[in-house]
Amino acid sequence: MQAMYEKMVILTGAGISAESGLGTFRDAQGLWAQHRIEDVATPEGFAHNPELVQAFYNARRAQAAEAQPNAAHAALAQLQSSYPGEVILVTQNVDALHEAAGSKSVLHMHGALASALCASCDHRWPAPPELSPDSLCPQCQSAAARPDVVWFGEMPYHMDRIFSDLETCDLFVAIGTSGQVYPAAGFVDAATAAGAQTIELNLEPSATHSRFDSARFGRASELIPTWVAELIEGPNRD
Ligand code: APR
Ligand code: ZN
Repeated sequence: MQAMYEKMVILTGAGISAESGLGTFRDAQGLWAQHRIEDVATPEGFAHNPELVQAFYNARRAQAAEAQPNAAHAALAQLQSSYPGEVILVTQNVDALHEAAGSKSVLHMHGALASALCASCDHRWPAPPELSPDSLCPQCQSAAARPDVVWFGEMPYHMDRIFSDLETCDLFVAIGTSGQVYPAAGFVDAATAAGAQTIELNLEPSATHSRFDSARFGRASELIPTWVAELIEGPNRD
């Protein structure tokens, strides 16, 4: 089958994991309605009260470990494995539901709950279910373990790789993200500058909605499988 797109970049946000039972951030019951960002998602918050921050991520790690991927995660894994063009999957999410659905080489630009990071020697290792201020780094033995999650004010991961992919893609798709946090919210502009087609697939229009060529709205577990089926079956479907 001839690929309609040679290279697509897909960005996912908390909305793709909402139907797996993981909270989003900015919906009415979202995480930022329950916690202050500055208390639990900044280096300053971690320095001020490491117990609170470790407890916040321990709770999210436990919840994410119990969650199951939904049909949207499965559809993207199927797209990656069967689409003849290149499919780059970038996620802002720190859960492992894309991998659990079978996706490969997922670029976690905001880090991952399943990984621990040493604030002293930058060593990374698989996070235990719970991290605490006493958790020791297996490499340097210092009590400097922190969640391997990118906090506000820190540089997201894989930026060079992501922007070089955006500059050479012919389709950019944003799924389940409110478009309120940069640099991810600016990806649509980089793709547009590269001449790519841009699509927003979301429950409702995001803050960057007007910068997309087109959009479809609905719950990800219904919207994404339909969109993927159309891509894989190609335009010549009856
Ligand atoms: N299907 C599709 N989209 C959904 C669904 C669903 N079932 N439920 C909610 N959404 C949409 C919402 O309409 C919203 O646009 O998902 C989006 C979630 O937005 P946010 O809660 O802001 O999450 P996200 O965009 O991923 O946040 C980006 O902000 O706090 C930081 O680091 C954190 O990675 C996060 C970043
Ligand atoms: Zn260390």
